Amino acid sequence: MSPVSDSSNRVIPGPQEPEEKTYHPSDGLFTNAHVPDFDAYLALYKKSTEEPEEFWADVAQEFYWKKPPSGQMLQFNFDVNKGNIYIKFMEGAKTNICYNVLDRNVHVRNLGEKVAYYWEGNSPNHHQTITYNQLLRNVCRCANALKLLGVKKGDRVAIYLPMIPELVYTMLACARIGAVHSIVFAGFSSESLCERIMDAQCNILVTADGVYRGDKLINLKKIASEALERCKESMASCVQKCVVVKHHAFRTNSDASNKLQTPWDESCDIWWADLMDGVSDECEPEWMDSEDPLFILYTSGSTGKPKGVVHTVTGYMLYTSLTFKYVFDYHHDDVYWCTADIGWITGHSYITYGPLANGGTSVLFEGVPVYPHVGRLWEIIEKYGVSKFYTAPTAIRLLMKYGREPLQQYDLSSLRVLGTVGEPINPEAWLWYYDVVGQQRCPVIDTFWQTETGGHVLTPLPASTPLKPGSATCPFFGVQPAVLNEHGEELEGEAEGYLVFQKPWPGIMRGVYGNQERFESTYFRKFPGFYVTGDGCRRDKDGYYWITGRIDDMLNVSDVCSGHLLSTAEVEAALTEHPSVAEAAVVSRPHAVKGECLYCFVTLKDHKEFNRTLMEELKRKVREKIGPIATPDFIQNAPGLPKTRSGKIMRRVLRQIARNEKDLGDLSTLADPKVVEVLFSQRWEAA
Ligand code: WTA
Repeated sequence: MSPVSDSSNRVIPGPQEPEEKTYHPSDGLFTNAHVPDFDAYLALYKKSTEEPEEFWADVAQEFYWKKPPSGQMLQFNFDVNKGNIYIKFMEGAKTNICYNVLDRNVHVRNLGEKVAYYWEGNSPNHHQTITYNQLLRNVCRCANALKLLGVKKGDRVAIYLPMIPELVYTMLACARIGAVHSIVFAGFSSESLCERIMDAQCNILVTADGVYRGDKLINLKKIASEALERCKESMASCVQKCVVVKHHAFRTNSDASNKLQTPWDESCDIWWADLMDGVSDECEPEWMDSEDPLFILYTSGSTGKPKGVVHTVTGYMLYTSLTFKYVFDYHHDDVYWCTADIGWITGHSYITYGPLANGGTSVLFEGVPVYPHVGRLWEIIEKYGVSKFYTAPTAIRLLMKYGREPLQQYDLSSLRVLGTVGEPINPEAWLWYYDVVGQQRCPVIDTFWQTETGGHVLTPLPASTPLKPGSATCPFFGVQPAVLNEHGEELEGEAEGYLVFQKPWPGIMRGVYGNQERFESTYFRKFPGFYVTGDGCRRDKDGYYWITGRIDDMLNVSDVCSGHLLSTAEVEAALTEHPSVAEAAVVSRPHAVKGECLYCFVTLKDHKEFNRTLMEELKRKVREKIGPIATPDFIQNAPGLPKTRSGKIMRRVLRQIARNEKDLGDLSTLADPKVVEVLFSQRWEAA
């Protein structure tokens, strides 16, 4: 069902609940918007779904093609009953995404002297401006250096870097020479890094000596070395060289007492600066087929083992470019800032590829929102005159706690669009973002999407979509959502059920690295003919979509600036590695700032005692195994777990205990209903 037009396009006053009130940005803010009103959106949406070939051919015209697209634009099968699932977009065309996001800006659009990035360090004293000319030269040098190390088209390169310019250089260098980048968020543990390196069989790792996140110094090289040791132990070592950026020692270390012990293996490790020394700053791009892989990015899987989501060159390029242009209503004088980390999909699509494809100027921020003071984000918005700002509900809720005062010290009048991503945004946070940050002037753009979707799939457009706090509103161009019930029947009109998509759009994932079976079983088997998001949603009377949250054993957890998926199975696996733990079950519980947090039930082995020390050990175990992002908020001793007679843990009941919901419904399938009472009596109220 397509959305319906609100002909007035104004705030609709009336007796609605606050979240039912519709908001529209003030007149005059978007004088030359790409999509000026809702009718224009509807017309473009219609074209994108009824004539997709023409629609995407128009989009493709802006890009450079070594061999232009011809023949069939889109081929796919979404139905497991009809054979293998596949998606192919503009197959046979040849291009290079790095060329399109850099050389095209420098040589065709004449943007060489334009700022591509304002790098802002963790400390306000560290910053650097990078123009498109400089970015292109640095990327070419890095590309040549990777070639010197023997990297070729199709090879996988693991990148474990903080938010520094070299992260962008390395990913684009890979894209330039046709290597597949696999970026691992630099907050993941050595074990998580090792697992990802081995799964993708990467032969190069690029990392840094260390980094400050807020006032905490992280020895990245130590974690990276531990990861490589682990890979070796498992006899599956593939990494031949580890390139290390001297970031802490050169760029940020003003105090000798902060020196890091950097483990060094002469046979493998090489300093970035030594490698780049004397290499040419020109590098002919490798011309890639549209469907050649561009990158792998791991996302949590409900079995606990992360899945390597594969994206390919052309579809991803067109989709991230177009969504960036429309969703942020991008214009050349904008200064755009996305606070996510490039280690997540939000950073891949909306810090690197989307903004650069448009010739945009972005802030690249290494730090955290409340360091060295709680007004840091507002200070940066004022400093660079940020006009388009993109963050996560968790960051908004965190900053809400400090009230209006920190914002009032800064001039935020440059702001035009406020975006959010990562989890459902509660109306209270939405309204604070709108009222206090945007001063009721800027639309709040709630973008729903996933690592798998490559770019935004449900989202308002700034000048045209009337907004409802908490709703991701309407589908982006080319995206056809549907709501299904338990039986896979499509629901019409107002409905609540499983959010699925009927057809591919160019940016959708092409597979799970090395595992077609897992690709099909995770996303396509439940409802043949549809891509299944794993999220529930409600469609209201106006055709607006409201995401109701995950319907599987996954939850949205947060780092400081963005929300991400984590599977409860992964955390359970970490807990049960502890020698005292016999069994563990993990569920999500609402959290005022983070949105959701982890509530863990552990059953101990005989004669083991549950105490504070054990609790700390368990938290450490999870941190070490997965990373700080997965640290449990609550751990409860569970002498027994609620199980069915066949031994299956009833997670629904555990979720209700964690949330203190007393109305437990039918418990007749439980083998021993008494355990529920015991668990209730011992539950944690607060952290
Ligand atoms: C959730 C992040 C509600 C959702 C880009 C999805 C959201 C998962 C929203 C993907 C939103 C993301 N409203 N929920 N605007 N955006 N989600 O792969 O559960 O880290 O399936 O991609 O985040 O998380 P991922």
